[in-house]
Amino acid sequence: MSTSGSIKNEQPDDTGTQNTFSDVDIESGANLDVAPKRTKKFIVLVASVAALGGLIFGFDIAGAGATFVMDGFKHHFKWECAHDAIDCVGASQGTMDRDKGLINGLFGIGAAIGALLNSRLAEQFGRRITLGLSALVFIFGASIQAWAPVMQVMWAGRIFSGMGIGMLSMCSPVYIGECAPEHIRGALGTLWQLAITIGIVLASAMNIGLAKLDYGWRISYGGNILFAVILILCLAFMPESPRWLAAHGTEEQVKEALSKMRFEDEIDSEVEKLQHEVEEERKLGQAPWSEVFSNKNLMRRRVILGFVLFAFQQLCGINAVMFYAPDILNTFFTESQAITGTLVLNTINCLSTFITVATVDRFGRTKLLTLGGMFMFPCLVACGILSVVEQTQGVGYAVLVFAAIYIIGFAFSWGPVLWIVIPEMFPYRTRGKAVGICVMSNWIFTTIVGALFPVASTASLGACFFFFAGAIFVAVGVVYFFQVETAEKTSEEIDQAYENHTPALKRKDW
Ligand code: BGC
Repeated sequence: MSTSGSIKNEQPDDTGTQNTFSDVDIESGANLDVAPKRTKKFIVLVASVAALGGLIFGFDIAGAGATFVMDGFKHHFKWECAHDAIDCVGASQGTMDRDKGLINGLFGIGAAIGALLNSRLAEQFGRRITLGLSALVFIFGASIQAWAPVMQVMWAGRIFSGMGIGMLSMCSPVYIGECAPEHIRGALGTLWQLAITIGIVLASAMNIGLAKLDYGWRISYGGNILFAVILILCLAFMPESPRWLAAHGTEEQVKEALSKMRFEDEIDSEVEKLQHEVEEERKLGQAPWSEVFSNKNLMRRRVILGFVLFAFQQLCGINAVMFYAPDILNTFFTESQAITGTLVLNTINCLSTFITVATVDRFGRTKLLTLGGMFMFPCLVACGILSVVEQTQGVGYAVLVFAAIYIIGFAFSWGPVLWIVIPEMFPYRTRGKAVGICVMSNWIFTTIVGALFPVASTASLGACFFFFAGAIFVAVGVVYFFQVETAEKTSEEIDQAYENHTPALKRKDW
């Protein structure tokens, strides 16, 4: 069993400034704050611009589902007949279910493909160009959706918009993680999730007004083109990832990129550190796909872990709530109360993400994941029990309260933390490919939960909540036994942490 306490680190500290030694907690490995940690404002701007991808993602999550109840959408696609329509026959329930399933399903499949595809593009063309390319693919798909004259065209648009968002969800967190200085890598990484939640709130607030317009659904599907255009324009002023440049560019280019994001006296030591990492990796040559699945450097175990963690992020039911909160709340309340309740939950989701901004670098990733699970598990069990008793409004309010606490738990832990931890878990050589596979898992399970929840909840809403509770219980166990703390560690230190990792049960400070 390891001992608790702290030791002096013999290595120069990562900021490369006056203090060359930093205290390190030898169990959690987190720096205990001795070195002065300075942050240039421009790096916050860089991370915020990359996080615009999250805004696009969140807007789609809340925007698309809401169109299914909009009259303009239902009339346009002939699900229902407008009162002045001539020769119109409304669609059967089966047709509508198929259309909804394909709108969600094709989006998820496109996103999974996009995430995997981008690992190659981001490596070959750089993170910045790939972000721009991802935004373009999204604009293409979203324009088709917003224009769609018939349902088949809508489906085609969903594949491309999904692909664009899948590409962004692979590339933005990687870019942010590689540009951020270690001491605020977690906080800046959280901007990605914050942007997702802001997108969700924005779309769910706009939906209330858009539902009244005949063409409102077109804005729900295409409104986020605006963010994609802003992203592309801003990218012109963004530096390339210094880590990518260290591997593919010249020393001058690395210095130029860093000069925008670091203070003058930090640049040389960081260039040296990046070059050292690149040299070490060059000795090993290009990482082929087989290496991602080999057990060299514990890669296979890490990829499986990342894949499983993202699967659990979805299997704990967050998107059942995000996609279907109006339906769930409608069991207890009127439609307009359910829509307002959803907006409240989405706002709580967004505000709670700030807890992570403030804590993720200080407390570390694994503690937040565990604590979040401890909030989520009892709330899911409570919702499960409440779903099988008589459905009165009083019970509805109790469900709303537990759902809100569950969302707070998710929003400061499993939501943002995984998007930070997954890119951190892998060494640079395999990062693109490995992150692509893990993000693909996120999208596969988003699609599965999104597609199955309507049928499963009709069979038994209570059983769904118990299933989600079971999933988060096991997920916390997986973190407890297998995940290492990555906060404030360099890529090499993270490699070592995986190699030396012993299951968390042996950690005294738990
Ligand atoms: C998840 C999404 C989810 C969102 C909710 C993200 O971290 O990946 O699937 O809809 O959080 O805020």
